[in-house]
Amino acid sequence: MAVIAVYSVKGGVGKTTIAANLAWCSATISCRRTLLWDLDAAGGAGFLYGLDPRKKRAAESVFARDADPTALIQPTGYPRLDLLPADESLRELDSLLARIGKRKRLAKLAETLAGRYERIILDCPPVLNEISAQVLRAADCVIVPLPPSPLSKRAFDLVTREIAAHAQPRPPILPVLSMLDRRRTLHREAREEHPDWPVIPLASAIEQCATRRAPVGAFAPSSPAARGFAQLWTAIERKLVSLKT
Ligand SMILES: Nc1ncnc2c1ncn2[C@@H]1O[C@H](COP(=O)(O)OP(=O)(O)OP(=O)(O)O)[C@@H](O)[C@H]1O
Ligand SMILES: [Mg+2]
Repeated sequence: MAVIAVYSVKGGVGKTTIAANLAWCSATISCRRTLLWDLDAAGGAGFLYGLDPRKKRAAESVFARDADPTALIQPTGYPRLDLLPADESLRELDSLLARIGKRKRLAKLAETLAGRYERIILDCPPVLNEISAQVLRAADCVIVPLPPSPLSKRAFDLVTREIAAHAQPRPPILPVLSMLDRRRTLHREAREEHPDWPVIPLASAIEQCATRRAPVGAFAPSSPAARGFAQLWTAIERKLVSLKT
Protein backbone atom coordinates (compact mmCIF):
# COMPACT_ATOMS: atom_id res chain seq x y z
CA MET A 1 0.00 0.00 0.00
CA ALA A 2 1.23 3.51 -0.77
CA VAL A 3 -0.08 6.85 0.47
CA ILE A 4 0.00 9.69 -2.04
CA ALA A 5 -0.70 13.16 -0.65
CA VAL A 6 -1.82 16.00 -2.90
CA TYR A 7 -0.78 19.00 -0.90
CA SER A 8 0.21 22.65 -1.02
CA VAL A 9 0.14 25.48 1.47
CA LYS A 10 -1.59 27.50 -1.25
CA GLY A 11 -5.34 27.38 -1.88
CA GLY A 12 -7.08 27.01 -5.22
CA VAL A 13 -4.11 25.47 -7.06
CA GLY A 14 -5.98 22.33 -8.19
CA LYS A 15 -5.30 19.93 -5.31
CA THR A 16 -8.80 18.49 -5.07
CA THR A 17 -9.21 18.25 -8.84
CA ILE A 18 -5.88 16.46 -9.16
CA ALA A 19 -6.51 14.13 -6.20
CA ALA A 20 -9.93 13.13 -7.56
CA ASN A 21 -8.59 12.49 -11.06
CA LEU A 22 -5.49 10.62 -9.87
CA ALA A 23 -7.72 8.36 -7.79
CA TRP A 24 -9.65 7.48 -10.94
CA CYS A 25 -6.38 6.82 -12.83
CA SER A 26 -5.18 4.57 -10.02
CA ALA A 27 -8.40 2.54 -9.96
CA THR A 28 -9.07 2.48 -13.69
CA ILE A 29 -5.72 2.63 -15.49
CA SER A 30 -3.62 0.77 -12.90
CA CYS A 31 -6.53 -1.38 -11.65
CA ARG A 32 -5.50 -0.66 -8.05
CA ARG A 33 -7.89 -0.86 -5.14
CA THR A 34 -7.93 2.84 -4.33
CA LEU A 35 -9.20 5.06 -1.55
CA LEU A 36 -9.64 8.80 -2.00
CA TRP A 37 -9.50 10.29 1.50
CA ASP A 38 -10.83 13.82 1.83
CA LEU A 39 -9.14 15.69 4.67
CA ASP A 40 -10.61 19.09 3.82
CA ALA A 41 -13.79 20.12 5.67
CA ALA A 42 -14.95 21.77 2.42
CA GLY A 43 -15.58 18.27 1.05
CA GLY A 44 -14.60 18.94 -2.58
CA ALA A 45 -13.50 15.39 -3.38
CA GLY A 46 -16.89 13.91 -2.53
CA PHE A 47 -18.57 16.67 -4.52
CA LEU A 48 -16.52 15.81 -7.61
CA TYR A 49 -17.76 12.21 -7.34
CA GLY A 50 -21.39 13.30 -7.09
CA LEU A 51 -21.71 12.32 -3.45
CA ASP A 52 -23.81 14.59 -1.31
CA PRO A 53 -22.36 15.81 1.99
CA ARG A 54 -23.46 13.84 5.01
CA LYS A 55 -25.25 15.66 7.77
CA LYS A 56 -23.64 13.41 10.35
CA ARG A 57 -20.38 14.80 11.69
CA ALA A 58 -18.22 11.69 11.71
CA ALA A 59 -15.00 12.33 9.75
CA GLU A 60 -13.13 13.68 12.78
CA SER A 61 -14.19 10.82 15.06
CA VAL A 62 -12.00 8.47 13.00
CA PHE A 63 -8.97 10.39 14.30
CA ALA A 64 -10.17 10.22 17.88
CA ARG A 65 -10.51 6.45 17.37
CA ASP A 66 -14.21 6.74 18.17
CA ALA A 67 -15.16 5.46 14.73
CA ASP A 68 -13.85 2.79 12.38
CA PRO A 69 -12.75 4.43 9.10
CA THR A 70 -14.15 1.51 7.11
CA ALA A 71 -17.63 2.31 8.44
CA LEU A 72 -17.47 5.75 6.78
CA ILE A 73 -16.09 4.64 3.43
CA GLN A 74 -18.46 4.96 0.47
CA PRO A 75 -18.29 3.45 -3.02
CA THR A 76 -17.94 6.00 -5.82
CA GLY A 77 -19.72 3.98 -8.49
CA TYR A 78 -16.39 3.33 -10.26
CA PRO A 79 -14.84 -0.13 -9.87
CA ARG A 80 -12.12 -0.39 -7.21
CA LEU A 81 -12.55 3.26 -6.18
CA ASP A 82 -13.91 4.27 -2.77
CA LEU A 83 -14.12 7.56 -0.92
CA LEU A 84 -13.63 8.46 2.73
CA PRO A 85 -15.56 11.70 2.70
CA ALA A 86 -15.02 14.89 4.68
CA ASP A 87 -17.62 16.70 6.70
CA GLU A 88 -17.86 19.78 8.87
CA SER A 89 -16.33 17.99 11.87
CA LEU A 90 -12.91 18.23 10.17
CA ARG A 91 -12.89 21.93 11.03
CA GLU A 92 -11.75 20.84 14.48
CA LEU A 93 -9.26 18.23 13.27
CA ASP A 94 -6.16 20.39 13.78
CA SER A 95 -6.95 21.08 17.44
CA LEU A 96 -7.98 17.44 18.01
CA LEU A 97 -4.66 16.16 16.64
CA ALA A 98 -2.72 18.68 18.69
CA ARG A 99 -4.68 17.64 21.80
CA ILE A 100 -4.22 13.88 21.43
CA GLY A 101 -0.52 14.38 20.67
CA LYS A 102 -0.18 11.25 18.51
CA ARG A 103 2.15 12.46 15.78
CA LYS A 104 1.48 9.51 13.50
CA ARG A 105 -2.26 9.07 13.97
CA LEU A 106 -3.04 9.58 10.28
CA ALA A 107 -0.16 7.30 9.20
CA LYS A 108 -1.38 4.55 11.56
CA LEU A 109 -4.98 4.90 10.38
CA ALA A 110 -3.79 4.57 6.78
CA GLU A 111 -1.85 1.42 7.73
CA THR A 112 -5.03 -0.14 9.10
CA LEU A 113 -6.50 0.21 5.59
CA ALA A 114 -3.54 -1.46 3.88
CA GLY A 115 -5.31 -4.82 3.58
CA ARG A 116 -8.17 -3.21 1.74
CA TYR A 117 -6.42 -0.70 -0.51
CA GLU A 118 -3.24 -0.58 -2.58
CA ARG A 119 -3.30 3.18 -3.02
CA ILE A 120 -4.59 5.86 -0.66
CA ILE A 121 -4.80 9.36 -2.10
CA LEU A 122 -5.10 12.21 0.39
CA ASP A 123 -6.83 15.42 -0.65
CA CYS A 124 -5.40 17.97 1.77
CA PRO A 125 -6.53 21.41 2.92
CA PRO A 126 -4.15 24.33 2.22
CA VAL A 127 -2.81 24.61 5.75
CA LEU A 128 0.45 24.64 7.67
CA ASN A 129 -0.53 23.01 10.92
CA GLU A 130 -0.76 19.63 12.64
CA ILE A 131 -2.94 18.27 9.80
CA SER A 132 -0.25 18.99 7.19
CA ALA A 133 2.46 17.65 9.51
CA GLN A 134 0.52 14.38 9.88
CA VAL A 135 -0.07 14.21 6.12
CA LEU A 136 3.65 14.58 5.43
CA ARG A 137 4.47 11.87 7.98
CA ALA A 138 1.93 9.51 6.42
CA ALA A 139 2.85 10.11 2.77
CA ASP A 140 5.08 7.92 0.62
CA CYS A 141 5.05 10.65 -2.01
CA VAL A 142 3.82 14.27 -1.99
CA ILE A 143 2.30 15.79 -5.13
CA VAL A 144 2.55 19.59 -5.09
CA PRO A 145 0.47 21.40 -7.74
CA LEU A 146 2.21 24.61 -8.79
CA PRO A 147 0.41 26.98 -11.16
CA PRO A 148 2.94 29.14 -13.04
CA SER A 149 3.20 32.15 -10.72
CA PRO A 150 5.95 33.71 -8.63
CA LEU A 151 3.92 32.75 -5.54
CA SER A 152 4.28 29.08 -6.44
CA LYS A 153 8.02 29.14 -5.81
CA ARG A 154 7.31 30.33 -2.28
CA ALA A 155 4.64 27.64 -1.78
CA PHE A 156 7.07 24.99 -3.02
CA ASP A 157 9.82 26.19 -0.65
CA LEU A 158 7.36 26.13 2.26
CA VAL A 159 6.31 22.55 1.49
CA THR A 160 9.96 21.49 1.25
CA ARG A 161 10.65 23.11 4.61
CA GLU A 162 7.60 21.51 6.20
CA ILE A 163 8.71 18.08 5.06
CA ALA A 164 12.21 18.66 6.45
CA ALA A 165 10.72 19.80 9.75
CA HIS A 166 8.12 17.07 10.24
CA ALA A 167 8.78 13.90 8.27
CA GLN A 168 11.44 11.30 8.88
CA PRO A 169 12.15 9.66 6.48
CA ARG A 170 11.33 12.49 4.11
CA PRO A 171 8.86 11.52 1.39
CA PRO A 172 9.85 12.60 -2.13
CA ILE A 173 8.09 15.62 -3.59
CA LEU A 174 6.70 15.47 -7.10
CA PRO A 175 6.06 19.04 -8.31
CA VAL A 176 3.40 19.40 -10.98
CA LEU A 177 2.90 22.41 -13.24
CA SER A 178 -0.85 22.84 -12.86
CA MET A 179 -3.30 25.01 -14.79
CA LEU A 180 -0.69 25.53 -17.53
CA ASP A 181 -1.86 27.79 -20.36
CA ARG A 182 0.68 27.71 -23.18
CA ARG A 183 -0.76 30.89 -24.71
CA ARG A 184 0.66 32.89 -21.82
CA THR A 185 4.29 33.95 -21.83
CA LEU A 186 4.78 33.46 -18.10
CA HIS A 187 3.40 29.93 -18.40
CA ARG A 188 5.63 29.07 -21.37
CA GLU A 189 8.62 30.35 -19.43
CA ALA A 190 7.67 28.23 -16.42
CA ARG A 191 7.47 25.19 -18.68
CA GLU A 192 10.91 25.93 -20.14
CA GLU A 193 12.33 26.33 -16.65
CA HIS A 194 10.97 22.93 -15.56
CA PRO A 195 10.82 20.73 -18.66
CA ASP A 196 10.85 17.54 -16.59
CA TRP A 197 7.86 18.36 -14.35
CA PRO A 198 4.54 16.67 -15.22
CA VAL A 199 1.94 19.10 -16.60
CA ILE A 200 -1.78 19.44 -16.01
CA PRO A 201 -3.13 21.90 -18.59
CA LEU A 202 -5.62 24.66 -17.91
CA ALA A 203 -8.61 23.06 -19.60
CA SER A 204 -12.35 23.44 -19.76
CA ALA A 205 -12.63 19.63 -19.58
CA ILE A 206 -11.04 19.84 -16.13
CA GLU A 207 -13.37 22.63 -15.06
CA GLN A 208 -16.26 20.45 -16.17
CA CYS A 209 -15.38 17.85 -13.52
CA ALA A 210 -17.25 20.08 -11.09
CA THR A 211 -20.37 20.37 -13.24
CA ARG A 212 -20.46 16.76 -14.46
CA ARG A 213 -19.30 15.59 -11.05
CA ALA A 214 -17.07 12.98 -12.62
CA PRO A 215 -13.37 12.56 -13.37
CA VAL A 216 -12.15 13.67 -16.81
CA GLY A 217 -11.17 10.14 -17.80
CA ALA A 218 -14.81 9.09 -17.48
CA PHE A 219 -16.30 11.67 -19.87
CA ALA A 220 -13.40 12.93 -22.04
CA PRO A 221 -10.97 10.01 -22.11
CA SER A 222 -8.99 11.16 -25.17
CA SER A 223 -8.67 14.83 -24.13
CA PRO A 224 -5.25 16.40 -23.43
CA ALA A 225 -6.47 16.84 -19.83
CA ALA A 226 -7.12 13.10 -19.40
CA ARG A 227 -3.72 12.42 -20.94
CA GLY A 228 -2.11 14.84 -18.48
CA PHE A 229 -3.61 13.03 -15.49
CA ALA A 230 -2.66 9.62 -16.91
CA GLN A 231 0.94 10.76 -17.45
CA LEU A 232 1.11 12.24 -13.96
CA TRP A 233 -0.22 8.98 -12.55
CA THR A 234 2.42 7.00 -14.47
CA ALA A 235 5.14 9.30 -13.07
CA ILE A 236 3.81 8.65 -9.54
CA GLU A 237 3.75 4.87 -10.02
CA ARG A 238 7.31 5.05 -11.34
CA LYS A 239 8.40 7.09 -8.34
CA LEU A 240 6.80 4.55 -5.98
CA VAL A 241 8.62 1.69 -7.71
CA SER A 242 11.94 3.56 -7.47
CA LEU A 243 11.37 4.02 -3.72
CA LYS A 244 11.07 0.27 -3.23
CA THR A 245 14.30 -0.56 -5.05
N1 LIG B 1 -6.27 22.33 -14.77
C1 LIG B 1 -7.38 23.06 -14.55
N2 LIG B 1 -7.99 23.69 -15.57
C2 LIG B 1 -9.09 24.45 -15.36
N3 LIG B 1 -9.66 24.63 -14.16
C3 LIG B 1 -9.10 24.01 -13.10
C4 LIG B 1 -7.93 23.20 -13.24
N4 LIG B 1 -7.60 22.72 -12.02
C5 LIG B 1 -8.51 23.21 -11.16
N5 LIG B 1 -9.41 23.99 -11.80
C6 LIG B 1 -10.52 24.74 -11.20
O1 LIG B 1 -9.94 25.64 -10.26
C7 LIG B 1 -10.72 25.69 -9.08
C8 LIG B 1 -9.88 25.27 -7.87
O2 LIG B 1 -9.53 23.89 -8.02
P1 LIG B 1 -9.45 22.92 -6.78
O3 LIG B 1 -10.67 23.02 -5.93
O4 LIG B 1 -9.09 21.59 -7.30
O5 LIG B 1 -8.22 23.57 -6.00
P2 LIG B 1 -7.73 23.29 -4.50
O6 LIG B 1 -6.27 23.51 -4.53
O7 LIG B 1 -8.22 21.98 -4.05
O8 LIG B 1 -8.47 24.44 -3.70
P3 LIG B 1 -8.60 24.56 -2.09
O9 LIG B 1 -7.26 25.04 -1.63
O10 LIG B 1 -9.68 25.57 -1.91
O11 LIG B 1 -8.94 23.20 -1.57
C9 LIG B 1 -11.93 24.79 -9.32
O12 LIG B 1 -12.99 25.58 -9.76
C10 LIG B 1 -11.46 23.84 -10.42
O13 LIG B 1 -12.54 23.41 -11.22
MG1 LIG C 1 -9.26 21.40 -2.30
